[in-house]
Amino acid sequence: MRKNSSFLHLFLSFALLLGQAKPDPDPLQDYCIADTKTPQYFYFNGAPCINPELAVSSHFSTSVLSKPGNTKANPFGFNVTLTNANNLPGMNTLGLSMARVDIDANGIVPLHTHPRASEVTTCLKGRLLVGFVDTSNRVFTQQLNPGESFVFPKGLIHFLYNYDSKAPAVALSGLSSQNPGAQIVSLASFTSKPPIEIQILKNSFQITDQDVARIRKNLGG
Ligand SMILES: *[C@@H]1O[C@H](CO)[C@@H](O)[C@H](O)[C@H]1NC(C)=O
Repeated sequence: MRKNSSFLHLFLSFALLLGQAKPDPDPLQDYCIADTKTPQYFYFNGAPCINPELAVSSHFSTSVLSKPGNTKANPFGFNVTLTNANNLPGMNTLGLSMARVDIDANGIVPLHTHPRASEVTTCLKGRLLVGFVDTSNRVFTQQLNPGESFVFPKGLIHFLYNYDSKAPAVALSGLSSQNPGAQIVSLASFTSKPPIEIQILKNSFQITDQDVARIRKNLGG
């Protein structure tokens, strides 16, 4: 009996671990145009589809990536514009998305992760220094000129920095999920709501009360 239950435990742990490494589920139909109009009364994984007979070409098209995002809305000097089920409803269930990344001169997309997606980014304009840290704490970085690409493996902490002090940069990223998610390390740590206990931050980063207060203030928390 005990042996059985610990085997079950092991099996479930493996199933969980494997499950986390899976991409978005495969669609069961050609497409599933996201229904962004009908109010949702119950919630499931993804967005519901409209009647496929009502699908039109414009559902598969978007111009959201044609305009730069506002890089002044945060202290880092970047903005990410992402396709999603609302602005590109024909993308629903296809397991991918695209992002336009605008970065001011010397601006940064600070250390962050996408829990549900790998990302391949191509520098379209400017000079980028990009990189990620793997789970053994090794860093991989590269300078990108226009036309050059770099890949960030799923879930790993990464950054994009515009090392040009005069010109803005633009990058285009493909992501392997329709809902990649993003967690910025500094904001998650210091500006969460409700805030993480100060003692936790002090111990985690080996810093003082004053350091915590200063970082929170700098990040607008
Ligand atoms: C990006 O820009 C949009 C407007 O273009 C703004 O609403 C949003 O807050 C900005 N995002 C960040 C992370 O600053």
